[in-house]
Amino acid sequence: MDQYIIKGGNPLVGEVVIGGAKNAALGILAGAVMADDPVLIENLPDVDDVNVLLDAIAGIGAIVDRVDRHTVRINGGTIKSVYVDYEYIKKIRGSYYLLGSLLGKYKEAQVALPGGCNIGSRPIDQHKKGFEALGAKVTIEQGGIINATAKALKGNHIYLDVVSVGATINIMLAAALAEGTTIIENSAKEPHIVDVANFLNSMGANIKGAGTDVIRVKGVEKFHGSTYSIIPDQIEAGTFMVAAAATRGDVLIKNVIPKHLDAISAKLVEIGCDIEEYDDSVRVVANKRLSHTNVKTLPYPGFPTDMQPQMSTLLALSNGTSVVTESIFENRFKYVAELARMGADIKVEGNMAVINGVEGFMGAAISAPDLRAGAALVIAGLVAEGFTILDQIAYIERGYEAFEEKLTALGASMKKIDVNDEREIKKFKLQVS
Ligand code: UD1
Repeated sequence: MDQYIIKGGNPLVGEVVIGGAKNAALGILAGAVMADDPVLIENLPDVDDVNVLLDAIAGIGAIVDRVDRHTVRINGGTIKSVYVDYEYIKKIRGSYYLLGSLLGKYKEAQVALPGGCNIGSRPIDQHKKGFEALGAKVTIEQGGIINATAKALKGNHIYLDVVSVGATINIMLAAALAEGTTIIENSAKEPHIVDVANFLNSMGANIKGAGTDVIRVKGVEKFHGSTYSIIPDQIEAGTFMVAAAATRGDVLIKNVIPKHLDAISAKLVEIGCDIEEYDDSVRVVANKRLSHTNVKTLPYPGFPTDMQPQMSTLLALSNGTSVVTESIFENRFKYVAELARMGADIKVEGNMAVINGVEGFMGAAISAPDLRAGAALVIAGLVAEGFTILDQIAYIERGYEAFEEKLTALGASMKKIDVNDEREIKKFKLQVS
């Protein structure tokens, strides 16, 4: 098990290149198995969640050929099983996309119940409702295996009771190879929904309206091979934007779609950052103490819940009182207890955090409670006075590629070390002192 040791105090300065979107990649990889011809996926992030899904895809018999670190060729023509109970699949959220894609292609799928970060109850009733509307029978078997079968899938009109990224993608996947037309109303509009739809269309699907709240999927008989490049990761980009702001740095964040970052940019400008937008990059400059604001997480184009811990950490260092309302997941403030150990003044009541900005943080021994909170705590460590040791960084590696390398290249003082490797800790402290 690894941990990060961080010496805070360095402003982040320079350029960073953002990788492919993890959450788009999960939907796209699941979709890739629906063709019987080779599908080449480019700009794939090399993160644990993606690699686990690739192992699971290989486990059911598809050919998975890692062309290079960021490119994979998948051939779903050799799939032998629709049973996905690979040991690790339970730990990732994206595993449930195999339910939609295998059900769509083979009218049958058995997939272990999805895990993912423990940030709330995360039900899958809307996925189930969607599959059932298409004609599938969905049951949860012993051992937490979801079983979905259908004689045939027939297009239908589906109204989602909650705006769900996962349910929207899953229903799109299954409906793409169903008979007739499916209309998904109140669908999620996140950039990765559009990316998965574009990818499926590149294989021959007929999906219109992705990115709006009504998606129309005209089922086709089969898919053909394709070459597709995944969009940049909105949340990785946002995390570096906030890290630049928190450390009072100056960072050019490259390979992004600035439009996808609008909600984040708007909040950063509101609290006093300078943001310059270019075609495919944004520059974030903060050379003073920032100010307070209120943030409420909402489905896209609202402020993303996956940026809430990072933004709250920044506000905890800003002047005045901010209120952050988490309206998507009920258990997403677990990192607040860790920030308190570093000197933050935050009170959580229900889904609301009242943040009284402090002048600075002190280094501490802390632990990452989940993926995005882990990234937020790294940001806290980068700002804190003295040394921070952050445990449970496996969470961070699920969704950020080469996080410490990218931060170090921007001037951060941090290192990944073996848990309790006292010698390494001493060596790092000597090096940076
Ligand atoms: C995805 C992202 C996650 C992000 C979230 C919201 C992946 C792998 N994960 O998660 O990083 O934080 O979108 O942008 O892409 N809900 C139900 N019933 C359902 C499904 C969802 O009630 O069947 C609720 C959830 O509890 C939550 C809300 O809907 O309150 C949104 O969840 P959803 O958009 O589905 O999140 P995920 O797909 O799990």
